[in-house]
Amino acid sequence: MIDPYLIRKDFPMFVNGVKMQGHPLVWLDNASTTFKPYSVEKAVERYYETETSNSHRGDYDLCFKMDEEVLNTRKKVANFINCDPTEVVFTSGTTASLNLVAFGYGAKYLKEGDEILLTQAEHASNVLPWFKVAEMTGAKIGYIPLDEEGRLTVENLKKALTPKTKIVAVAYVTNVLAYIAPIKEIAKACHENGTILVVDGAQSTPHMKTDVRDLDCDFLAFSGHKMLGPTGIGVLYGKFDLLCKTDPFMTGGGMNAKFDMCGDVGYLQPPLKFEAGTQNLEGIIGLGAAIDYLGKIGMDEIESYGRMLKKYCVEKLEETGMADIYNPHSEGPVVAFNVKGVFSQDAATFLNSRGIACRSGNHCAKILIDYLKVYATVRASFYIYTSKEDIDALADAVKHGKEFLDAYF
Ligand code: ALA
Repeated sequence: MIDPYLIRKDFPMFVNGVKMQGHPLVWLDNASTTFKPYSVEKAVERYYETETSNSHRGDYDLCFKMDEEVLNTRKKVANFINCDPTEVVFTSGTTASLNLVAFGYGAKYLKEGDEILLTQAEHASNVLPWFKVAEMTGAKIGYIPLDEEGRLTVENLKKALTPKTKIVAVAYVTNVLAYIAPIKEIAKACHENGTILVVDGAQSTPHMKTDVRDLDCDFLAFSGHKMLGPTGIGVLYGKFDLLCKTDPFMTGGGMNAKFDMCGDVGYLQPPLKFEAGTQNLEGIIGLGAAIDYLGKIGMDEIESYGRMLKKYCVEKLEETGMADIYNPHSEGPVVAFNVKGVFSQDAATFLNSRGIACRSGNHCAKILIDYLKVYATVRASFYIYTSKEDIDALADAVKHGKEFLDAYF
């Protein structure tokens, strides 16, 4: 079992004793971003202190070394999600990855009357690019109904699929309710229908083992900063044949094989075809270090620790009698709740006064509120350094909700 206090020794945010409002920091906003261990910081520092150079752009040793570092990280990512390194595209994050699929693949192949299926639980980054592509192509957006708890089920997907459904784009784990979607079965149903499956892995990849070959999804997007890596680095996995058929979203240096004055252009093979311009090299190196760190703990350990914390938090919040919980049965390490009768941002402000960081609002999942029938929620989300004592602190603050109710009403 993970010992969060042992893990904290590897994280400067804890070692430096960062406080909020004079209280030791209780960081429960890991679905938003995670802290970085020293090993990631050192890897980034190494780039700046002894390894600064560009990649693919020089015939000298420092540049060769950088090419090797980039390739090594590509291999680490490939090993982490079980694919070939040629199927790993570096992007700036999940949003960029999903936009790349939407505009590079969706906009190229969708036609008027085709259908893109989403769910109401999707994050803005897996909704808005598809809205835009639908507008450009004349394709229609449809929604797979969620079940009464907010889950995406294969049964509901099958009912929603039609011969016109060309793309299904869904989260593996949603960012507010945190249900794990049955992606393997969803992929099978999609493929039987001739439909491409795009998976938003922002909230799943950091928390559980991901095997894209086993899942058989067509595309998977995720971010480095939600899994201990630096901000500004992310990944798009795509099956190689689909990446070959996808247009680059950006063009420029480093992605072309040739171009001439007549406009005759040849692109490099994937993944380089999608990596125009100088890449976020320190981000790539940092992501490699983050994957090494997660690998030492083990993704199965991380998943079971997250599930334990989730269960513990639901129990503790229920004990207070002061919380409405919206996802008590979901698997992901996220609890969405409201303090009874208190607007979520007021609750988050009170939590802040006790040094507790939780996100509040609609968490970029703006169409989920029509489903939840509440305007906003407080979200507590956990990771490997979260302790039961952090959750006790949250529950204690929620228990004293009445005090801040008085303060705000
Ligand atoms: N996508 C991040 C979240 O859900 C920022 O909080």
